[in-house]
This record gives sequence, structure tokens and C-alpha cells, in this order.
Amino acid sequence: MLIKPILFKILGPLKNKKILEIGCGNGYWLRAFAKKGAKCIGIDASFNQIKLAKELSQGQGISFFQENGPHISRVRPNSIDTVLIIKVLLEIKSKFVIKKIIKQANLVLKKGGQLIISDLHPCAPLAIPTVTPPKGFRYHNSGTVLKAISTTIDKKKVYFKDVHWTLQDITQLIDTDKFTINQILEPEATAKIIRKYPSLVSRKFCPMDIIFDCRKK
Ligand SMILES: C[S@@+](CC[C@H](N)C(=O)[O-])C[C@H]1O[C@@H](n2cnc3c(N)ncnc32)[C@H](O)[C@@H]1O
Repeated sequence: MLIKPILFKILGPLKNKKILEIGCGNGYWLRAFAKKGAKCIGIDASFNQIKLAKELSQGQGISFFQENGPHISRVRPNSIDTVLIIKVLLEIKSKFVIKKIIKQANLVLKKGGQLIISDLHPCAPLAIPTVTPPKGFRYHNSGTVLKAISTTIDKKKVYFKDVHWTLQDITQLIDTDKFTINQILEPEATAKIIRKYPSLVSRKFCPMDIIFDCRKK
């Protein structure tokens, strides 16, 4: 919810923009972008997520494929304006696999194309009570599996296991021979937002999300 206005802002005009989301889940983001005229493709490793995405997106002109991020075969090289990787790194325990996914993103993007990576903020485990690190956890313990609880707007509790990556890990995984990191954003839960969504109060002192806005060189 906090990343939505920022994503729309950094994506810019969406009409006819070719967007690929790697790890699209049920296709929530792609439906939002397709409504504004983007031409969207979603891939996800999970058969069930792709099945659900197709059901929820009927008639909206979005293509979905069950594919593994490090091995994308259904998207042509140099054909995509924007690749999105949203809350996927936190599900992957191997830096090698993340590197391969980012390499695939580079391959399918047009020159100058945009890569947006949005994930759990590296400081969240130390500052946000909804994320519970294991005993003895230190910020530099890359790859640690954390327990997290998220409360949806309709007050349902959702339980996750998230992998912790540091800021240093993520920036090093984005190959700067192939990408420029234009900006790193940390969406803020302002007083106005907390009044509207009181469950976000735990995010007042530390952001839950981090967004990397990159361009293919
Ligand atoms: C937390 S969900 C996020 C879904 C969506 N991006 C969103 O923000 O609503 C992470 C998704 O990444 C997918 N995923 C994890 N590893 C993947 C991989 N190697 N290749 C493709 N999808 C992957 C999972 O199946 C899951 O649907």
C-alpha cells in the first residue's frame, strides 16, 4: 500500500508500456498497470499462482507464464520497457539465483529500459515488531530466514518466512556494468497515512520496503 504511489510515479506514463513482472504472484500489480494501458506479461515459478493470476485477470489482456526467473524463455530479448521484481528476493535463499534473475531482466530489457526491484527493507528485521529475527540475529547475517506477520487492510493476519538481504547484498547483486542505479527509495509512513491505516504504526520509525530504480546501460 505504501509502495503503490511511488511505483506509479517512477513508472511514469503507462500507455503501451511493455512491462514484465518476474515473480508476479496472483498478478495484482499487473492488473493495476494494465488498467492504465500497459502491455503486461507476468511470470512466476508457482503453477498455482499463475493459475490464480489467469483466473483473476480474465479479459484484461495480460499474458501469464509459469517460468522460473533464472530461465525465462517466453519473452524476447531487448523487448521490454520495464521489468519489475517485487517482493521476490525475500523468497530466494541463494545469491547465485538472484544474480541469474537480474541477468535475465537485463537480457529482456530494451537499452535504457527500467528495472524496479522492491523488497523488504534491510533494516526491517531490527526495527519492525511484525518481523521476528531468530535469537542472536545481527544485521550482517545475510540469508537469515525471518518470521514475519503482516496485517491486511481488512485486519487479517498473514504469516511469512522472509530471507534477509543487506543493502550491500542487494546493491552488489545489481550488476553495475549492466545497470545504473538511478535512485533508492524508502517509502515513509507519514502521520496522515498512519491516521488512515493505524496498522502501519510499526512502520513509523523504519520503512518496511526499499525500492531500487535502475536503468539498463
Ligand atoms: C511474495 S510473492 C510477491 C508476488 C508479487 N510480486 C506481489 O508483489 O504481489 C513472491 C512470488 O515470487 C515467486 N517466485 C519466487 N521465486 C521465484 C523464481 N525463482 N522465479 C519466479 N518466481 C519466483 C513466488 O512463487 C511468489 O509468487
